[in-house]
This record gives sequence, structure tokens and C-alpha cells, in this order.
Amino acid sequence: MSNRSLFAVLFFLLATTLAASSFISDDVFEFRGFTNRNLLQAKTPCPINFEVQNYTIITSQCKGLKYPPKLCCGALKKFACPFAKELNDLTNDCASTMSSYINLYGKYPPGLFSSECREGKAGLK
Ligand SMILES: *[C@@H]1O[C@H](CO)[C@@H](O)[C@H](O)[C@H]1NC(C)=O
Repeated sequence: MSNRSLFAVLFFLLATTLAASSFISDDVFEFRGFTNRNLLQAKTPCPINFEVQNYTIITSQCKGLKYPPKLCCGALKKFACPFAKELNDLTNDCASTMSSYINLYGKYPPGLFSSECREGKAGLK
């Protein structure tokens, strides 16, 4: 094996070790958070499949680098409106599931919508 490929192997091992260890610590943190929250409120799984929704309305209007709040929040509302009943039901995990997929499909920075789209303490209307 050449020095170069040895280095590549070592680097790979190091990178996976780091990734694995941060994954485990995140996991532990999540687990603790979950058990704490679980005592207060157990969330039921969201009945809507947000994985297969059409996010075009958001991704076509809400774009970086500026992510104009007016366009982004308007698009978010249009997208979320049909699901308002489920999203406002705090006993399920619809809101967090939806925001995960929006961030995933739009590659938005975490917290973009929650920081841009506040409307009073209720969040979104
Ligand atoms: C998603 O919605 C847009 C309009 O908002 C439409 O042009 C597009 O065809 C839709 N895509 C799918 C896969 O339904």
C-alpha cells in the first residue's frame, strides 16, 4: 500500500469514528430529552405523510441567500394550510415532521421559518 492510500484509509477511519461518536452523543441527548418530554406529553405519530407532499410552492418562492420573509412565510402558509388542523394539534409530531422535510427538500438553514414566521406567541396562524 502506498503512503497515500494508507493516509486515505486512516483518514476514513478517523472520520467515521468522529461521526459515530458524535452520533452516539446526539443520540443519548435525544434519548434523555425524549424521556423527559415523555413524562409530560407523549406525541402520537403524525397521520399525514409529509415525505410525499409537493414542496414546490415553498422551494420555488423561498430562496437564498436572502430568503425574503414575506415570500417564505407566505409560501409556508399556503403549503401548511391544508394541514392546519393536524399541525395545531400539539399531541402529534406533525409540526416537527413537516419542518424537517421542508428543511430537507429546500436545504434551508435550521430555524429559518421559526425565526422568520413568528406571528405572536401562537407562531403561525
Ligand atoms: C407541485 O406543485 C406545482 C405547483 O405548485 C406543480 O407545478 C407541480 O407539477 C407539482 N408537482 C407534482 C409532482 O405534483
